[in-house]
Amino acid sequence: MATDHEGIAQAPGALPIVGHLLPLLRDPLRFLKTLPSYGDLVRIRLGPQTAVVVCRPELVQQVLLHDRIYDKGGPLIERVGNALGNGLASCPHSAHRRQRRTLQPAFSRTCMREYAAIMTQQIDNLATSWSDGRTVDVAAQMYDFASSTIARTLFRAEFAGPAIDTVTECLPDIFRGIYQQAVLPPLLSRLPLPPNRRYERARNRAWAAVSKTISLYRQDDEPHGDVLSRLLETHDDEGGVLDDAEIHAQIMTLLVAGIESTAGALTWAVHLLCQYPDVQERLRTETAEVLGTRTATWDDLPRLDLARRVITETLRLYPPGWILTRTTTTEARLADVVIPPETTLVYSPYLIHHDARFNPRPGSFDPDRWLPERQHVRGAFIPFGGGARKCIGDNYAMTLATLALSTIVAQWRFSRVDHQPPHIEPRMTLTPQGVRARADCLQAAPD
Ligand code: HEM
Repeated sequence: MATDHEGIAQAPGALPIVGHLLPLLRDPLRFLKTLPSYGDLVRIRLGPQTAVVVCRPELVQQVLLHDRIYDKGGPLIERVGNALGNGLASCPHSAHRRQRRTLQPAFSRTCMREYAAIMTQQIDNLATSWSDGRTVDVAAQMYDFASSTIARTLFRAEFAGPAIDTVTECLPDIFRGIYQQAVLPPLLSRLPLPPNRRYERARNRAWAAVSKTISLYRQDDEPHGDVLSRLLETHDDEGGVLDDAEIHAQIMTLLVAGIESTAGALTWAVHLLCQYPDVQERLRTETAEVLGTRTATWDDLPRLDLARRVITETLRLYPPGWILTRTTTTEARLADVVIPPETTLVYSPYLIHHDARFNPRPGSFDPDRWLPERQHVRGAFIPFGGGARKCIGDNYAMTLATLALSTIVAQWRFSRVDHQPPHIEPRMTLTPQGVRARADCLQAAPD
């Protein structure tokens, strides 16, 4: 295997000028899965830039735990920063501890209980929106559901309604744009091409809608029991309040980080339950016992065991955050290789989750692998990342997905209508497109 002067294996198949751009745009998952066969660290090329992919769980943990040495950085993070402002997901280590401390209280257990009430209301709307025996566009429905629920968790005031509509309409173009801009050579990403213009327009509209909502909240001065009200009341370590730019960046960050990932997880879960009707029936037995046909609430969570394992296994097979980057701030030593400063490193939950050395039978959907008595390789399940930069919304996402999946399975039977695997468009998250299912109502029709 070819290695470079630093002793890092080089992925084969790089083309002149574009490098590995084509497989990364066309079939990135297949490309990623081939990389561990070349080494524990593998260099890939994106145009003139290169990145080193980290292919073993313990090395990924080393990267995640030393967040000062392996800081946020690389092309994807630069684009995220450009789209969202200097928010929690893209800020450098030097700003991160402070930002995390200001945002963490809005994700406490007490808050989560309050947000669960918003979730239950939105799940109710979702579960009553389908017609018996009709085909449901699962990907589109889950996107609408996740965006309306998360947007309402962030701003609940009635006057924020138009902003919620604008933002949810703009986000798909923002997600697509950030990924395309990250993998395109810088020159191409700056040209006024239609995809670049669409991205700029969407970003500017969403930006303006969030700005307006912040100023309406400031004028209103009423707490609404949502994340924005909490941020407006938050004081930083020096006792100062957060300014509009910081609040704006955090709201945009939470929208972008939360919506597509949670929608993707739910879409994949329904897709898998259609493919594995036996698991769907087992889940229905659980929900019949815990819920009957009512909508799940926060208090049901401890008894929705299988639902949680189904979501967990879905996140293993299809982790929404599938490719993430770091940049070395100093010289670092990883797997006995000296990595120079300003090297872009890539870690991929998808790659780690699909490596049979760390997750046996990686392609099979087996929620029971998450029974408490089963053993796992440390660091081989990382859908929410790890270390100081671990997802702040992990409990929120697990709560929302568990409550939603158990409610809809209690009330509807899903079966597959398409026999083709879903199309996966490479974006910031691993999002399936065009997933459809037939939904049959399990409740007796009213007289
Ligand atoms: C199934 C759903 C979700 C998945 C799979 C997911 C995954 C991730 C991953 C992998 C990271 C770490 C990124 C890195 O290491 O560079 C992350 C960070 C983050 N996530 Fe999530 N996420 C989900 C839902 C959410 C939700 C619902 C929210 C908020 C409403 C959220 C907000 C964030 C934020 C703000 C960060 C940055 C944290 C920091 O750097 O301190 N995520 N997420």
